[in-house]
Amino acid sequence: MKTSVRHLAVDILNQVQTGQEFASLLINDSLDKNALSGTPDGRLLTHLVYGVLRFQGHLDWILMKLYRGDFEKLDEGIKNVLRMSLYQLKFSDRLPDFAVVNEAVKITKIINPEKSALVNAILRNYLRRGQNLPFPSLKKNRAEYIAAFHSHPLWLVQKWIKIFGLEETTALCSTNNELPSLTLRVNTLKIPRDEIKQKLAAAGFTAEEAKFSPDGIILNTSANPIQKTDFFDTGLFRIQDEAAQLISYLVNAESEQSILDACAGAGGKTTHLAAILKDKGQIVAVDRNANKIAELKQETTRLGINIIETHTVDLNVNLPNSLKEIFDRVLVDAPCSGTGTLRRNPEIKWRITEKDLLNFAAAQKIILQNAASAVKKGGHLIYCTCSLLPEENENIVDDFLENNPHFSLCPLPASINSRLIDSRGFFRTYPHKHNMDGFFGAVLKRW
Ligand SMILES: C[S@@+](CC[C@H](N)C(=O)[O-])C[C@H]1O[C@@H](n2cnc3c(N)ncnc32)[C@H](O)[C@@H]1O
Repeated sequence: MKTSVRHLAVDILNQVQTGQEFASLLINDSLDKNALSGTPDGRLLTHLVYGVLRFQGHLDWILMKLYRGDFEKLDEGIKNVLRMSLYQLKFSDRLPDFAVVNEAVKITKIINPEKSALVNAILRNYLRRGQNLPFPSLKKNRAEYIAAFHSHPLWLVQKWIKIFGLEETTALCSTNNELPSLTLRVNTLKIPRDEIKQKLAAAGFTAEEAKFSPDGIILNTSANPIQKTDFFDTGLFRIQDEAAQLISYLVNAESEQSILDACAGAGGKTTHLAAILKDKGQIVAVDRNANKIAELKQETTRLGINIIETHTVDLNVNLPNSLKEIFDRVLVDAPCSGTGTLRRNPEIKWRITEKDLLNFAAAQKIILQNAASAVKKGGHLIYCTCSLLPEENENIVDDFLENNPHFSLCPLPASINSRLIDSRGFFRTYPHKHNMDGFFGAVLKRW
């Protein structure tokens, strides 16, 4: 390997900033390309990239105090060298301080030699006085303090304080910076949960049953990346957060019923629904992204599923007539801000803006309205997001119900634990309360 791990980390951080790819994809690509998967260097690369993305706000607060110029205007590559190095100095003790600084200067000499003295000076300045740099006052500037110290955009913190209050917003933001557990959804078409748990234990993985999802397994420690095992290749599980697993139970489908998954993506929930139906019945999966539909098809092969029919459909326009009013269950797992998944995808914090929320809400309204035309009389429409913002959740449902009096809010299925149901009967999960992604869900019945 020619490039050092830390240089690779900076490269990935630069790509996260300039593109729209998830960091997880970029990390996996880099691990494969550099033969680092399952190695200590590979784990270090993952640790550094996620560490910087989680704590970027905190690190930038300190760097802004140490840099004499306008930090915003500094070259992004240099910012990422500084962030990664400061992250190591402040949060990670794998390398002595002097070695962190030397490595930062070395990388800077390769990517932007003119700035190497600057990088050296800022990092050494941090080592001299960094511990004494003050954060905003918790008493006087509460939102500013949480945003800087717990590393979230200020506008999002301000919104969450209004919804959840100060204490819970702090808990949520702090949990968002923790390492999430790796959750598997057992493919019950191929193996019961007990059995795979034993197989995993025998292979050196510490596995425990998830608290809420009957198909979930939490992996606490692992010898190897689980995606590189035969268990994965032979389709014994899919990696899926526990809250996402519970959405398929919200659908509450019975065998022989017909289901439309209207925003199926790569099929996380579609393939789970097929397993719940024991691969009997009819599932139609649509998405406007043809690549995701292709991925979904591959997944059905890996998981041994036969009942899923796929189409590329854009729900910004009317549904094709052939799909109208024929489904018992229609699931809309809407495109959203992803603010419930910041533990897993911390880069989202630095990508979304308040304006994006307006665009998401507009798209969600149209998609939900068009998907509703697929529901037959007496059928259910299930709306969900992985957002923790009302403008993408209850506001969308309320708006829909106002314009569609032939639909009404339905109680959630008995299989859903009452701790995950709010006073209005909506499904709600939170990272800081339930150790899973933040999801919202509602079930609407057509009369
Ligand atoms: C939250 S993701 C779905 C995740 C998926 N259900 C799963 O569990 O893996 C939302 C999906 O909506 C799709 N989408 C966005 N706009 C759409 C539209 N106008 N019509 C159909 N699908 C759309 C996106 O391509 C994306 O795959």
